[in-house]
Amino acid sequence: QLIDKGNHRHFMAKEIYEQPIVVAQTLRGYLQRLEEKVALPIPEFDLSTIKRVTIVACGTSFYAGMVAKYWFEQFARVAVDIDVASEFRYRAPVMEEGGLMIVISQSGETADTLAALRHAKAEGQTIAAVVNVPTSTMAREADLLLPTHAGPEIGVASTKAFTCQLAVLAALAANLAKAKGRLTSEEEREIVVHLAEAPAALNDALSRDEAIEAMAGAVAGARDVLYLGRGTDYPLALEGALKLKEISYIHAEGYAAGEMKHGPIALIDENVPVIVIAPSGPLFEKTVSNMQEVQARGGKVVLISDRKGIAAAGENCLATIEMPTAHPLIAPIVYAVPVQLLAYHVAVAKGTDVDQPRNLAKSVTVE
Ligand code: G6P
Repeated sequence: QLIDKGNHRHFMAKEIYEQPIVVAQTLRGYLQRLEEKVALPIPEFDLSTIKRVTIVACGTSFYAGMVAKYWFEQFARVAVDIDVASEFRYRAPVMEEGGLMIVISQSGETADTLAALRHAKAEGQTIAAVVNVPTSTMAREADLLLPTHAGPEIGVASTKAFTCQLAVLAALAANLAKAKGRLTSEEEREIVVHLAEAPAALNDALSRDEAIEAMAGAVAGARDVLYLGRGTDYPLALEGALKLKEISYIHAEGYAAGEMKHGPIALIDENVPVIVIAPSGPLFEKTVSNMQEVQARGGKVVLISDRKGIAAAGENCLATIEMPTAHPLIAPIVYAVPVQLLAYHVAVAKGTDVDQPRNLAKSVTVE
C-alpha cells in the first residue's frame, strides 16, 4: 500500500482531513443505517450480563476511554473504572466476575496496555479490544475485536485513530445500553441518526481550518496554555493539551473547568491563553461561567463553541472558533478537529517536526 501525504504538507494534516471518511468507514461496521439499529461486528456476543466495565489505555487512546466512561454510565448505567495502563497493571485493581475490560489502542502493541489485557484475562475478565491494526497482538488476544477503520496512521500524534475510537465506543455504549434493556427503539434510532451525522459534521469542522490557522500565531508565542472543558469535553481538554505539548513543545495542561478554581486559576494572567471547549448542551452555562472567571483575571480566552456571538461579548477574548451545531453525543468527535488543527498550526508556526516530534514514538512497545 502506497502511503503518501497527498496534497498535504504533513501526514498529520492529511490524517486530520481523512476523518470524515474514516469515521464513516468505521461506523459502517457498527450501525445498520436502514434498520436504524446499532450492531456489533460479533452479534452473538452477549453484553447483557456485563456488570462492570474497566477501560485501560495510554496516551490519546486513554482520553478516548475517558469520553466513553461518560457514555457507558449515561446510556447503559454500568459502573466504569478507567486507568492508564502503566498504573493499572501495578495497582492491584479489583475486577469483579462478569466484568468487561476494554483496551483501546491504535497500534494494538503498546506494552503497558498489552500487559493490562493479559492481567485482566488471567483474572477472568472478558476482553474487548478497540484497535486500529487488526493483525496486532491485542486484536489476536481479545475475546471481542472492535476494529477502528482509520487506515494507517503515520503522524506520531494520534488524530484520526482517536475519532474512530470515539465512534466505536459510542456505538458500543449504545449496544450495551440496548443489551441491558435501557434503550427504547426510538432512542436507539436517535443514536443511529446522530452518529450517522458525524462525518458531515467533521467536514463542517474542517472548514474552520483557515480561521484556526489565522489565530494560531496568538498561541504560538505562549509558554503555557490551559485547556478547559466539562463532561465529555474534559477529556477533550486533556487531549488538546496533549496534542499541543507533543508537537509544539509548549507546556499545556487540560483541566476540568470546574476544578480550575482549585489551582490553575493562580496561573492566569495575560500571558496564558486559555482554550475553552464549550459546545452548547446542559453544561454550557457552567463552562461559560468558568471562562468569565478567567477573563475577569485578565486571562486571554479562545472559545471553541457553536454558540454564536458569546465570546465576542466578553472582554479578553483572543478568538472564537465558531463550530457547526452538533448533537452532544457526537460533539467530542467533532470538537476533536479544532483541537487538532490548533495544535497543528501552532506547531507549523513554530517550525517543529510535526510528524516526528522529538523523544516520542508512534508505538511504545517497551515498558
Ligand atoms: C504513543 C503515541 C500516541 C498514542 C499512545 C498510545 O505515545 O505517540 O499517539 O496515543 O502511544 O498508543 P496506542 O497505539 O496504544 O493507541
